[in-house]
Amino acid sequence: MKEIKNFNIKGKKAIIRVDFNVPLNDSFQVSDDTRIRAALPTINLILSKGGSVILMSHLGRPKSNEEAFSLKHIIPTLNALLGQEVQFANDCIGEEALKLASNLKPGQVLLLENLRYYKEEEKGDVDFAKKLASLADVYVNDAFGTAHRAHASTAVIAQFFPNDKMFGLLMEKEIEGIERVLNNNKKPVSAVIGGAKVSSKIGILENLLPKIDHLIIGGGMTFTFIKALGGKVGNSLVEDDFLPMAKEIMEKAKEQNVSILLPVDSVVADRFSEDASTKIVDTEDIPDGWMGLDIGPKAIENARKVLLQSKTILFNGPMGVFEMSAFEKGTKKVAEAICEATANGAFSLVGGGDSVAAINVFNMQERVSYVSTGGGAMLESLEGKILPGIQAILD
Ligand code: 3PG
Repeated sequence: MKEIKNFNIKGKKAIIRVDFNVPLNDSFQVSDDTRIRAALPTINLILSKGGSVILMSHLGRPKSNEEAFSLKHIIPTLNALLGQEVQFANDCIGEEALKLASNLKPGQVLLLENLRYYKEEEKGDVDFAKKLASLADVYVNDAFGTAHRAHASTAVIAQFFPNDKMFGLLMEKEIEGIERVLNNNKKPVSAVIGGAKVSSKIGILENLLPKIDHLIIGGGMTFTFIKALGGKVGNSLVEDDFLPMAKEIMEKAKEQNVSILLPVDSVVADRFSEDASTKIVDTEDIPDGWMGLDIGPKAIENARKVLLQSKTILFNGPMGVFEMSAFEKGTKKVAEAICEATANGAFSLVGGGDSVAAINVFNMQERVSYVSTGGGAMLESLEGKILPGIQAILD
């Protein structure tokens, strides 16, 4: 497989699939530029080696070519971050794109309009992929956030570059992060799995159990496990359909010598509100009319002890409703312990949905080893799937 660092790209045009699916505010300005910043190392590497860059991405889920989803909205942010003016093609294929691409000089950047203005993108249409491919000499996939989609630009296009396809630097880092947790891990390995629903984490739990030593459970999914064990959960969130599955997971964990840490105590509230009355109770004995919205102090301490002894940590899902300050402490303290373990030499990966949001709110991004840019893509990777966007480069 070709590596971007060693590839001679001088004088060549690289089409890079990036994930610029970023949030926009009401004035169509980029409100979180994390994904654009994450793509800069690859873009800058190619430019510094004398290549030129064609950027392609989707933005949102347009039904046709609605202006609201135009990638031109991100141009000011991209220009500022790159320190140069990018060119823009109003259509990702066709004459204008072809002309701009063929006139592109080394060091220049061309951004294509939203790929999803064409239904062919999501259908994985081969002709559409071929038209995109015709713009460039080299294909680079740096869109980890979209690597779980088998679309024209993320997977199908790779066949037109049998000897000139490669991962970008972001993609390499994401893959390495997953490898360091799932396959090349240093023991002991702890997975902190939280979030509201156990139903969305079954695949991850099953894939992780053979690879980890400790499973620290928190968040709303706790109560399905507690109820499965015969505990009283009051008005807490429970997925009754998944009680047998929760039991099965606990049995499998036992068979595989994985210790499961369920929170022994919880912060409970009399309603789902920032200013609800709260108290701390044993998680297996939550009074009627009360619901668990965060892990309690003993649970925090137990998780902390395990995390500080861990050499590899996955953080996937918050411990409570961290968006409300009354229920943020569990997530914050657990995140703090992960940062401390990282400072002591552990490898920590934060990935998948709300744990990334929590790390950003607590401003701890620099204190963990890696924060993933992928939501669904990270979840599917943790389930053990090889993502189509990754497979297409490996093939
Ligand atoms: C994401 O934000 O998860 C990716 O950009 C993929 O977007 P999608 O879910 O619309 O395919």
